[in-house]
Amino acid sequence: MTKILTIETTCDETAAAAVTENLEVLGSAVASQEKLHEKFGGVVPEIASRAHLENILPVIDETLRRAKISLNDLDAVAVANTPGLAGSLLVGLVAAKTLCMALQKPLIAVNHLQAHIYACKVAFCSGLYSGFETSCNPAPDVGPTQATGLKGGVSEEANAYEIFPCIGLIVSGGHSSLYRCTGPIDFEPLGGTIDDAAGEAFDKVAAMLGLPYPGGPSIQQVAQRGNPKAYHFPRPFLDNPDRLAFSFSGLKTAVRYHLAGPGKEISPQDAAANLTQQEIADIAASFQEAVVDCLVGKAVQTMRKTGYTTLCVGGGVAANARFRTKMAETAQGAATQNAFRLFIAPPNLCTDNAVMGAIAVERFRAGLFEPLDLDVFPGLLRNETTAST
Ligand code: KG4
Ligand code: ZN
Repeated sequence: MTKILTIETTCDETAAAAVTENLEVLGSAVASQEKLHEKFGGVVPEIASRAHLENILPVIDETLRRAKISLNDLDAVAVANTPGLAGSLLVGLVAAKTLCMALQKPLIAVNHLQAHIYACKVAFCSGLYSGFETSCNPAPDVGPTQATGLKGGVSEEANAYEIFPCIGLIVSGGHSSLYRCTGPIDFEPLGGTIDDAAGEAFDKVAAMLGLPYPGGPSIQQVAQRGNPKAYHFPRPFLDNPDRLAFSFSGLKTAVRYHLAGPGKEISPQDAAANLTQQEIADIAASFQEAVVDCLVGKAVQTMRKTGYTTLCVGGGVAANARFRTKMAETAQGAATQNAFRLFIAPPNLCTDNAVMGAIAVERFRAGLFEPLDLDVFPGLLRNETTAST
């Protein structure tokens, strides 16, 4: 049985996983850097790459220990080499190349964004969730898992639940993008954010409200006690179904003005410090609702415009409980003509992890290997805001 080690160091999580060609997760490990970046309110690239250097070997060792395999059992090593922070990507790439050279095994390149969508398939095939109805439940810890008869892309049963072709929505700290995914590694950009990503808006608004980093989970927690209708924040482009685009910069500014007005006399943080807990919760809930409305609304418009019937969602913001609930309700379709198949990976496979790097299995099968002078590509290779339906 083919076994692949996958490595993920695109941003601020150092992660590795051992997966089989049937998408069983033999073992995985993630070292989070949240505590290191917390006091800066965002990821500091230099700190991130240094932490990856310290974490990468222990994370690989722990993954192999959990998988109960040794380096010699591996058939290939895969690594995410695009997109991400240059210094962070380099640490994973050098580790992967070194292993490939020492073990004389092939190197596989993983596109981090494609992997975020593929997380839906891995979760499904490895039994981490069993389909649409339960895709919004809290996930069990990742790995080791046994395939539950749904062998990845092999058995008839798996084909019945194949996620491709689908529309892919990636909502993370760096991206808010819509893709037409004709296959696991064939993505055509349909639209994306014209400014900030959704996760970035969560992080910046949380900082304004004096809530800890990362902002998404903090806002989600505080918003539980808030009224999502307390304040109306903008929902750009929702009134134009033909424009497959997001914008979160104005929403961020709207929260800032709500807190402190357009002047610079007082910082939003100081203004927020004078608010009651309830007022903070109401702002958090109203902001979260605006982001969720934009993401869900634009996803529905994309499904209608393209005629696709399956939507797969990945990226850290897809871990958001309110987003998951609203997306699931919408996919079930109160008006049945709106119904579509929805896959959202469990929350711990939405935030960065190496299990989603199992997309490398697809490249292994297709014989798509890389030379050992493979480089990192921090930016996207294509203009992802180009809409072409
Ligand atoms: O996919 P990810 O782990 O890393 C990137 O590739 O960017 O996404 C990280 C982003 C952060 O902005 C974080 O605040 C956001 O995902 N996030 C959330 C939640 N959990 C993480 N946003 C909203 N609600 C959450 N529960
Ligand atoms: Zn990511």
